[in-house]
Amino acid sequence: SSSLLQLRLSLRLLADFRLIIKGETKEELYATLLPQLKSLVEGESDIIANMANISACIMDTFHFWWVGFYRVIDGTLVLGPFQGPLACTRIKRGKGVCGTAWDKAETIVVEDVEKFPGHIACSSASRSEIVVPVIRNGEVIAVLDIDSEHLSTFDDIDKNWLGKVAELFT
Ligand code: SME
Repeated sequence: SSSLLQLRLSLRLLADFRLIIKGETKEELYATLLPQLKSLVEGESDIIANMANISACIMDTFHFWWVGFYRVIDGTLVLGPFQGPLACTRIKRGKGVCGTAWDKAETIVVEDVEKFPGHIACSSASRSEIVVPVIRNGEVIAVLDIDSEHLSTFDDIDKNWLGKVAELFT
């Protein structure tokens, strides 16, 4: 059963801290990843630790260009735990894809960053992007930002599963 599978995954993850990466399709990879992220977060209350491990696990599974979090601190997005190259440290509300996802409190999928007005290019290699708000008690407390070096990497499958990842923080 799926709960037995989940228990086995949790035990394995907690026992030896090994991420299981399994699946042929994006859907299958996310389906393997999510319960492992859930068990990680359930065993740790520190938000930075959880953002750090979640970034690492998403990167390990999909090898995106950049995966990370920006946290809302004193009315600005401030760079949090991430995997990938150097990134901008602060983003204002409504600016770029991250600031827009925060402002609208909704997920934004950008197929071609050059066509997104006001896109903030932290890296010129980035071609497409998804930003998912992390909402707690009705407030956006952070965003999960993933960048790809390819065009049109993200779709409704990513939006759906990464939305579930963001819900781990609520
Ligand atoms: N491209 C993002 C900025 C963050 S980084 O690329 C990591 C944006 O427009 O919000």
